[in-house]
Amino acid sequence: MSKMQEKIAIYPGSFDPLTNGHLDVIKRAAKIFDTLVVMVANNQSKNSLFTIDERVTLLEESCACIANVKVSHFKGLLHDEVRHQNAVAVIRGLRAVSDFEWELQMALMNRELDQDCETLFLMPSPKFSFVSSTMIKEIAKLDGDVSPFVPPIVENELKRRLGKNCDS
Ligand code: PNS
Repeated sequence: MSKMQEKIAIYPGSFDPLTNGHLDVIKRAAKIFDTLVVMVANNQSKNSLFTIDERVTLLEESCACIANVKVSHFKGLLHDEVRHQNAVAVIRGLRAVSDFEWELQMALMNRELDQDCETLFLMPSPKFSFVSSTMIKEIAKLDGDVSPFVPPIVENELKRRLGKNCDS
């Protein structure tokens, strides 16, 4: 298949850390597009637990078995990255109606900034509809069990960082 025909999508996010809900969206998007580029946002204003490099590594290891998924990171505006990657769509996950208002605003703003920047929403399995990275960090910090909600490698990394007797 020529590069011209290849359908590339970008899945941007903070992924601090990656959850099984994110992974579910990644698998769904990877079935639809030839290549899915998962892009970790380097958002200086967010106080992230994991560095950009750590988040990229956790994603790379968790997605290693999905052949058409690549992982990268970006710093600037999303629509610039969409052009840079020659992507035809931005993928965002919608867990519940409460996500929709902000996601709609973001999608419309991105299209206002670049009329070719289309956003497609994918719904993860309902079993992940209540899972968020923020909650995962809180549960891990309080030494709760996050194993049903994150890949094993993320669970281990959270334990190492936030588990009992560790400084956060
Ligand atoms: O996982 P998140 O935190 O919901 O992801 C939000 C993200 C990274 C997709 C969003 O903040 C983003 O696109 N940032 C890049 C900056 C940008 O393009 N902003 C203007 C469009 S709203």
